[in-house]
Amino acid sequence: MWDTLGGRYVSSVNDVHAKYGPVVRLAPDTVSFATAPSWKDIYGLQEGKMQLQKDYKRFPDRPEPIHLFSSNDEDHARIRKILQHAFSTSALRDQEAVVDGHIAALTNKLLTMTDKKIDINHWFIRMTFDIMSHLTFGESFNSVDAEDNDPYTEDFFQKMSIYPIIYASREYGPLNWLLQMMMKVPSIAAAEKEYFQSTKKRVDKRLDKDFPNQVDFMKYIVNNNSKEGIGHNEMVGVTTVLLNAGGQELAVVLSSMIYYLTSNMRCADLAQKEAVAGQSSTYMNAAINETIRLHPPAAGNFQRRTGKAGQMIDGYFIPPDMSVGVSQFAAFRLPVNWVKPTTFAPERWLPEGAQEFRDDNKAVYQPFSAGPRNCLGKSLALMVVNRTITKLLQTFDMELCSGMETWDEGQIYNVSWGRPPLEVVLRKRE
Ligand code: HEM
Repeated sequence: MWDTLGGRYVSSVNDVHAKYGPVVRLAPDTVSFATAPSWKDIYGLQEGKMQLQKDYKRFPDRPEPIHLFSSNDEDHARIRKILQHAFSTSALRDQEAVVDGHIAALTNKLLTMTDKKIDINHWFIRMTFDIMSHLTFGESFNSVDAEDNDPYTEDFFQKMSIYPIIYASREYGPLNWLLQMMMKVPSIAAAEKEYFQSTKKRVDKRLDKDFPNQVDFMKYIVNNNSKEGIGHNEMVGVTTVLLNAGGQELAVVLSSMIYYLTSNMRCADLAQKEAVAGQSSTYMNAAINETIRLHPPAAGNFQRRTGKAGQMIDGYFIPPDMSVGVSQFAAFRLPVNWVKPTTFAPERWLPEGAQEFRDDNKAVYQPFSAGPRNCLGKSLALMVVNRTITKLLQTFDMELCSGMETWDEGQIYNVSWGRPPLEVVLRKRE
């Protein structure tokens, strides 16, 4: 709990896995896994059985508005059935043009900042929230072009820092009572209300106005909705999740990828050659996989509770009502799973690495999770990252500034990575 509060949960879990192996009991009622079969056993559907329930101990007590992460199975299936239209192959094709527009805006902005030190992480956060607001509500925050700081994106990490406190307090009764009291403090209650109110305003505005050529998620929700579908309040919950899960996770991958490429210039050269030739994305996709392996955006254990009968997980019988989850960070780094586990080696995903990396346990690599609650935004995420990095490599040569060599070490994690500035110099390519 101390590590959770200090943002060190992910790295501590990795440390205990490194010491004790790929299955570790972290607390009397909590087991962490870093093995391939545990994905299916924890998150998958099993014949004749209910899926393991989310560990609701990890969520705030206030279920309104309902959203995908906090909903029970019935609500989840109802909401997901409608929402999945927004993530179909044809929707993705339409979304490409919106994404490209924001990548162009970012590129133009960065062209005004060449040959000097910039914090590229700052610009990625702005762009990814611009993309996600545009794709969610049909209107972008346009924060890449804004003169002043955007409070929504700037405060994101601060807002999320409440989550470790929630986790810790739910674990200990008296602290939970304290948390409930804290949530009633007028300034905190008002901040929380305002947070959902700002999304509600956007949802209401979007519902009032029909954008005939719009390709946002709301279009798919409205077009596929029914009386038994997604209620108005739920739209607020769902769009909050889409905006934040998308905006934050994308920025994590983009920043980490620039860090790994500029720290490994041989890889950067190969990726750049491919980007400039514009014929394929083979190396780029391998580099994206490798970035996510070393710096998974969803690094924490997405905990589930074993049911009344307990559960067999990767050959272990886990008793009833235990909290279980896969630690992505540990699973993607343990030496038992990977050859040269901490080396950035896109080759491990390519035929040329087949010999050297033949002992890699690739089945353990499931960064978008598994089962009925896996990530809806996987294809969108990979498309955004691929197109952004390709465009930047076509336009700029990049250099990591000194002092940034260990940027990926010691980062705080609550529900996402708290990244320090990532300083690079961009030079316009001739
Ligand atoms: C590389 C970036 C991303 C990664 C690694 C990632 C990973 C994940 C993971 C692990 C989950 C499962 C969480 C759980 O079990 O509770 C999840 C769920 C989800 N993700 Fe992503 N995500 C990414 C980007 C995105 C994007 C861009 C979107 C688009 C809006 C998105 C939308 C969602 C949604 C809606 C869910 C909930 C699905 C459900 O409960 O049915 N994600 N994501």
